[in-house]
Amino acid sequence: MGKQPITISKEELERQREFSEQIRRHYLETMGRQPLACVDTYGCQQNEADSQLLRGMMIDMGFGFTPEPDQADLALFNTCAVREHAEQRVFGNIGALTHAKRRRPGMIVAMCGCMAQQERIKEKVKKSFPVVDLLFGSHVLYRFPELLWRRVQSGKRVFDISGDEAGVILEGVQPQRDRGVKAWLPIMYGCNNFCSYCIVPYVRGRERSRQPEAVKAEFRRLVEEGYKDITLLGQNVNSYGIGCDFDCDFADLLEDLSREPGDFIIRFMTSHPKDASEKLFETMARHDNIAKHLHLPFQSGSSRVLEQMNRRYDREQYLALVQAARRHMPGLTLSSDVIVGFPNETEEDFEQTLSLVEQVQFDNLFTFIYSRREGTAAARIQDETPAEDKKRRFQRLLDLQNGISNRRNAQCVGKTFRALVDGEGQDEEYPLTARTEGQKLIRLKGDPSLIGKFADITIEKHTTWALFGSLRQE
Ligand code: SAH
Ligand code: SF4
Ligand code: F3S
Repeated sequence: MGKQPITISKEELERQREFSEQIRRHYLETMGRQPLACVDTYGCQQNEADSQLLRGMMIDMGFGFTPEPDQADLALFNTCAVREHAEQRVFGNIGALTHAKRRRPGMIVAMCGCMAQQERIKEKVKKSFPVVDLLFGSHVLYRFPELLWRRVQSGKRVFDISGDEAGVILEGVQPQRDRGVKAWLPIMYGCNNFCSYCIVPYVRGRERSRQPEAVKAEFRRLVEEGYKDITLLGQNVNSYGIGCDFDCDFADLLEDLSREPGDFIIRFMTSHPKDASEKLFETMARHDNIAKHLHLPFQSGSSRVLEQMNRRYDREQYLALVQAARRHMPGLTLSSDVIVGFPNETEEDFEQTLSLVEQVQFDNLFTFIYSRREGTAAARIQDETPAEDKKRRFQRLLDLQNGISNRRNAQCVGKTFRALVDGEGQDEEYPLTARTEGQKLIRLKGDPSLIGKFADITIEKHTTWALFGSLRQE
């Protein structure tokens, strides 16, 4: 495999800080007030975590924040390429800034992230979206200050999707996290799996793991700052550490983090079934502060389709894995992703997906209709399945899962769960919201002073989407 990924050098980090300082001075001199930025994030939690880093860099550059892109001096769109719909939404929202920019020509519109990393998108933006001043891809995220400075100084449009696929690991930038009790903690970047339908490996580069010491230090800081629900992030956390110069796999990392002192719960996502191990399940089972929840995408219930998807497991192996996980953790909550309408998926293939869903009884299922992504292997397959058939299958799957989610929630009534109270919702009788270890939503009777605390909650009633309860009576 290619070369070892490297952590960003001290010199490069310092160089970028100098660009940040120049931007800070420039805005102060030309505007005489603090400039405002808006970051609009699409896609997965990794992108959310990247946006927190980008906001951290913006703070270094002197920016304050506004939630309204048309009020911002710098509107940054951190984009997602995983399905066509995500791309269309971004273009719609960027186009909508044309008027604001005409009113305030000094405004800068920037686009970054997975969608921006693609040559095809770069060309489209160059030609058809003159409102975009700056476009940079995921590989050069760490160069954001330099690229913005180039734009500010030259007044010309800047495009940079260069960068090494092996990737640089960015350390030393303080992410700007949301206040509250939940935090994302990226432990690795990129993906090596090349599932045939998926664009992620092309736009995120090769798999690279942060040093365990860097992860642990950030984890400790989060706990000290009062975060209580910490999610370790990676496209495939189960391959953490593979091919690295340190001796720590994902289960080892989890083990170490769970031994840290403090009041917290650890989550992680996503797990690829091909490398989820018994060692992982054992580790999860042994520690009360690791959520008994697995997000284990199966994508299809048909072994034929799984092979075409290049997932490297079949239906039987997936089912055996679920069985093993439940053996170690009887109360395990399971969620999954599934794609309907992969090219030439037959009615029989789809029946296999339904039967797997019926057999496993997931608590929660994220369902997607296949979206053709230019440049992927599956995009070359001539797809004969009519769109109407795909929509019909999609609806059947939703109906099946809704019934299952409802039944699984019904089984929770009368039981007591430890859950983190995380905010206020819209229900008058049950005004607070909480999340169980398994990420189930509980609407809770009680006082807002409970927010940010763990509570034992007895479930009184349910719907398909939520549980309703009160604090356990002693
Ligand atoms: N790394 C994770 C998934 C990241 S993408 C994993 O492998 O499990 C999140 C989900 O989007 C995937 O699990 C898949 O179900 C869906 N997805 C990815 N590419 C897609 C495509 N081209 N069309 C439809 N859904 C897709
Ligand atoms: Fe995409 Fe597969 Fe990688 Fe997940 S594991 S990001 S689905 S290529
Ligand atoms: Fe989208 Fe990139 Fe995540 S393509 S799903 S934002 S890794």
